[in-house]
Amino acid sequence: MADDAGRLYGKPEVRIDGAAKVTGQARYASDEPVANPAYAYLVTSAISRGHITGMDLAAAEAVPGLLDILTHETVGKEAKPPVGPDQKPTTTTLETTQVWHDGQIIAVVVADSFEAAREAAHRVVVHYAPETPSATFDSPGAEAEVRKTDEQHKDPAKGDAPAAFAAAPVKIDARYETPTQHHNPLELFTTTCVWDGPKLTIYEPTQTMYGLKAAVAKQLGMEPADVRTISRYVGGAFGSKGAATSRTVWIAIAARRLKRAVKLVPTRDQAFTIATYRAETRHHLQLAANRDGKLQALIHEGWEVTSRPSSYNVSGTETTARMYACPNIATKVNVVHADRNTPGFMRAPPDTPYMFALESGMDELAHELGMDPIELRRINDTQTDPVDGKPFSSRSLMKCFDAAAAKFGWAKRDPKPGAMRDGDWLVGYGCATSCYPSNIGPAAARLSLTPRGKAVIQLAGHEIGTGAYTTVAITVAGGLGLKVTDIQVFMGDSNLPPVPVAGGSNNAASTAHVAAKACEEIRQKLALAAVQNNAGIFAGADPSKLRLTDGALAGPDGRREPLETAVGRVAGGALEVHVENVPEGLPPDAAAGLYQGKMAMSRGTGRKDVTAYAFGAQFVEVRIHALTREIRTPRIVSAFASGTIVNPLTAYSQYMGGAIWGVSSALHEATEIDLREARYVNDNLADYLVPVNADIDHLDVIFVPEEDSRVNPLGIKGIGEIGIVGMNAAVANAVFHATGKRIRKLPIRIEHLL
Ligand code: MOS
Repeated sequence: MADDAGRLYGKPEVRIDGAAKVTGQARYASDEPVANPAYAYLVTSAISRGHITGMDLAAAEAVPGLLDILTHETVGKEAKPPVGPDQKPTTTTLETTQVWHDGQIIAVVVADSFEAAREAAHRVVVHYAPETPSATFDSPGAEAEVRKTDEQHKDPAKGDAPAAFAAAPVKIDARYETPTQHHNPLELFTTTCVWDGPKLTIYEPTQTMYGLKAAVAKQLGMEPADVRTISRYVGGAFGSKGAATSRTVWIAIAARRLKRAVKLVPTRDQAFTIATYRAETRHHLQLAANRDGKLQALIHEGWEVTSRPSSYNVSGTETTARMYACPNIATKVNVVHADRNTPGFMRAPPDTPYMFALESGMDELAHELGMDPIELRRINDTQTDPVDGKPFSSRSLMKCFDAAAAKFGWAKRDPKPGAMRDGDWLVGYGCATSCYPSNIGPAAARLSLTPRGKAVIQLAGHEIGTGAYTTVAITVAGGLGLKVTDIQVFMGDSNLPPVPVAGGSNNAASTAHVAAKACEEIRQKLALAAVQNNAGIFAGADPSKLRLTDGALAGPDGRREPLETAVGRVAGGALEVHVENVPEGLPPDAAAGLYQGKMAMSRGTGRKDVTAYAFGAQFVEVRIHALTREIRTPRIVSAFASGTIVNPLTAYSQYMGGAIWGVSSALHEATEIDLREARYVNDNLADYLVPVNADIDHLDVIFVPEEDSRVNPLGIKGIGEIGIVGMNAAVANAVFHATGKRIRKLPIRIEHLL
């Protein structure tokens, strides 16, 4: 019956919440009406390392409308220190006098109005005992350590890579670097807290309803059952709202002290230091091949910046080691502690920076070999995970390259760097592999069906702009034989059954499978009651042969019973089921863990039977002005094969947005760091560059059809993150083709090409 759940898949479906969004009906967290709120404003540290020695609050307290000021002295002991995105220690906030990084929350000012809170916050005088901070790589005092590995996260290794590298006839040995990048979702990192006796309700945009609930309960020493999180719509997340941060508990404490709702809408520049970001990375990549192009050795060592107490890292070597057939592999990852806020997830966290290194390196190797870069990928393509010998659940990498190359016109490329020119413009073509592991988690849902053929599904899912309400509705409509418009979907409330964090591109697969299971349970109940009813038309029939289709229970011989009869037989009002789905390979208690905010995940790289990835190919044309070296990207072509596509309309948006971000990641985005003060310089949307329409004139996304019965029953691989991966390398490769200059440090700017 999984087939029925998927029967509407692949047909473009407009968002069921589209009208609500464009008419302003959709309530984002800070839009939720609360009675008589007070307003909070954050005071953040002006130093990057040291201690607070005192605070002078008199001027702030004199501001009319001032209600409360939370500091380490007044409330510091009321919350346990938070955990970081990896659930391990991270920087603290108001718990002590310690300042771990620039822009750390050190006080929360609450007033009757936003303006009064802001004015009072600016009047708080803080005295510090500053110490010299370490900003990033190479800063004095930055401490490197080898990342800790475990059963779940190992450094892929095989054969004798150094010996094979030394012996091979063709090799490249190069270092690459990617910059700090910061999230700038339209919706800021807001929090509103309301108490009702011992019960706390939190309105906050989040990718993890139950994770946030559990994290706040733990920090405040509360029963999780007394905490409710509500986040019906999220205005951009991309990982930035995927972990609980420490601001939430201080707003909860402020509301408890005042016995009044408190609302916080932090500023854009505060978002750079109170939320997570993509850390800068470095790579040492060594690739060796025989003259026929067959890889002989891959050695990839990475370095990633993190905060002092956290060892958060992304370790994309787990992906780069798996891309191509290679008999000798060695990998290693180092974390470098500096006086910075703890980094976190950003769209394809490991794959985006690490694949920049690998896919730049593959292009360099192709050039060394005098070989077309697509041919080099073809020669080293494999259906077997080179690290542990498992089959890929499916892998359509070369189909993606072929489809994208044809559309792009790769055949017209003159391979010689600098050979293609159009008037004053140097023309470059570049390409790279894209990929993302296919993850799926346990999930729960409640589904009801009325005799009139209307269904309601409830689950604590997350609409982070991906179209999540719609993919669930499409699945339920398919599973129950109804129209998408007959389905109501409720998500974004921790009072609903739990689903995993909307991260790691697992959301579509996890929610579709639990929705499909709920539909099947309803079908079974209706079918069983129908065949047991001696007066009914299905008396004595095989219940497994009855299907829900076109608003009726139908037999294989075409007999049909309207839902009014079929549902009416088993329920007075509506037939309701509550189901939990645990994907194969996960422990049976994985569903129980969900309720405690624990997210067991079947990871594409951690399975016993197969390695599961989606693949794609990124192509880009760059034009570089011969005199000014202005860089343009007139067109990009991307092809992806991600198994079953639930909704091509929203999938297109995901792919397209990812590909554009990939160009941005190559040419525009970087957070500049003041090396003396360890502070972010361009912490605003005027100076932090993001792409606009004029930056990419033409864009094509190709859906390469792919059926994968091994990845999961519905064949869904997930598409949220793959769109960005590899595009930064494709741009760098195109820049090399246009100019003969190999830029190994992102972002690529005019000054690098002069
Ligand atoms: Mo995604 S960066 O796993 O939210």
